[in-house]
Order: sequence, then C-alpha cells, then structure tokens
Amino acid sequence: MADPWSSLLPAEASNYSSQVDLLTGLMLVLALGLSAPVFILMAYFAVKYRRGKPANRTHAANRNIWLEISWSAIPFVALLGFYLWSTDLSARLYHAPGNALQIDVVAKQWMWKFQHPEGQGEINELHVPVDQPVRLIMASQDVIHSLYLPALRIKQDVVPGRYTSEWFTANRPGIYMLACAEYCGANHSEMGGRIIVLDKADYARWLGQSSVDNSLALAGAALFRARGCSGCHEPGATVHAPRLDGIYGKTVALQTGETVIADDQYLRDSILLPQSQIAAGYPPIMPTFQNVLSEEDVLKIIAYIKSLQPEANTQ
Ligand code: CUA
Repeated sequence: MADPWSSLLPAEASNYSSQVDLLTGLMLVLALGLSAPVFILMAYFAVKYRRGKPANRTHAANRNIWLEISWSAIPFVALLGFYLWSTDLSARLYHAPGNALQIDVVAKQWMWKFQHPEGQGEINELHVPVDQPVRLIMASQDVIHSLYLPALRIKQDVVPGRYTSEWFTANRPGIYMLACAEYCGANHSEMGGRIIVLDKADYARWLGQSSVDNSLALAGAALFRARGCSGCHEPGATVHAPRLDGIYGKTVALQTGETVIADDQYLRDSILLPQSQIAAGYPPIMPTFQNVLSEEDVLKIIAYIKSLQPEANTQ
C-alpha cells in the first residue's frame, strides 16, 4: 500500500518512529472526527435558519440524556487513552536498555562531535549499527543546542553545564538528516549533518577503517595523569582522596548525609564543581577543573574512570 504520509513526513528509521506517526495520525483523525460535525452542522443550520427563511423555529426542547452523556464521555475516554499512550511513548525515551552502545556527543557553535567508545571520533556525521540500542550522552561547550533526528522522531536539548541523553534503535539502514533544533547563533541553520545507519558488518568495517589514536579510556588515562588527578586518587597517594576503582554506578555517601549514584552526571560535577557534592569522610580540597578541561576531556576522563571496574564487573 502506498503510504500517503511518505511525501509529508520524513522517513521512518525506527520502531519508535512508526509508533509516533501512528499516534500523530490517530490524533489527527480524532481531532477531525470531533470538530467536523460541529462545523458541518454550523454551516447547515446557518443556511437552514437564515433570516427570512420560513423554517419551523418552534421545536420543543428535545432532551436525550444518553446522547448528551455520550458526546462528553466518549471523547473524554478517547483523549484519556491518548494521554496514557503518549505519556508511555515519551517516558520510554528516558529508559535506555542496559546493553545500549554509548556514544558521547559534544555540541558547540556550530558543529556536532561524536565519540565512539572505541575512540573513533566524527564531526557532523554519526555512524551507528542497525538493530542495536544506541544511547547518546550529550554535553554543550557553549550555548543550548538540540540534537534532532527526524527519521527517529527524537529530539533532545543539549545544555551547557550538564549531561542530557537520548536513545534509539534504528531498524532500517540508510542515511538520514540530523539537525540542531534550538536557535544557537548565526550559523544555527548550518549546524546539521547526517546519521548513517549501517548493518552490523558494515559498521564493524567502518569502525576498523576509521582512524583511532586512542580509545576514549586510554586518552582519559593520559589526561588523568597529565592533569594531576592521579597524584591524589591513585593508591599510594599521600593525599586522602576517594579511590575511583569501581566507583561508576555505585552509591556514594555525601558529607551532607545524602547519597547519590555515581553516574556520568555525578562524575562530571565532581570534576567541574567538586565542592558541590563532597564524599563523606573526605576533606573538600579538590580544585575545580571548570576552565581547564574541555567537555571532550571530561568525557575522556569519565570513560577512564568507568574502565576502572573491578574484574568481576567487566564482561
Ligand atoms: Cu546549535 Cu542551533
């Protein structure tokens, strides 16, 4: 069947896109179904009862209680159904599956940088494997941007000072557009590129062909040493600082008595805003690396800290 939407909507490259389109299409049908009778009857009555027309205007009020209830109750239930359906779709965006491939994204005026875990970096192009959940961890070096992937029907703001994320499972190989969807200055309209969905073998080949200096974690390890982090955080350091082995994903007790999960955001804050969440039992002596490390450097150091998992946790 020829799809009447195909000329109006961008290609669908994930199961999620089909669901969003189905929801949007049915919303449109419902809105038309609810408003069409009102406008059709309005036009009909305007003609039938126009001034000077000898129509019968003496109808006694005709109450049909069930009719009146039904035209409130049916749309109410239908719209409630749409509310639940769209809330579920939207909530799914925040729960990436555990086996998702993590790709780091840094936005800046005016380009997108993508970092694959094996160290491949690309600018304004994102290669991903088909049928594999991919989670994007995104940071901005300057102002608010928004990574928009129309073929996947997802869009997420990229905000300076914190990580945001979005995830998808592309199910159709192809080349689709990506764009910035938040006005971010003079060249906002040019801050776009392509997402290239490859089948597994092609993706492996692409990874192999792309130049890799270092894996992210290795580059992070070098920075960890060069920036002096190791001077306090490594075993044998004279300064009393938390050990970082296996910290990723663990619960950390804070001086305030609260606890936090050591996720990407926590590690990032601990590097850039070390005074904001002091681990219980440690002096607040760590300097900030706010204007020292770029967003990419921070992502590399976090990749290194993640790689410090105890043997049992590595697969
Ligand atoms: Cu970046 Cu608009």
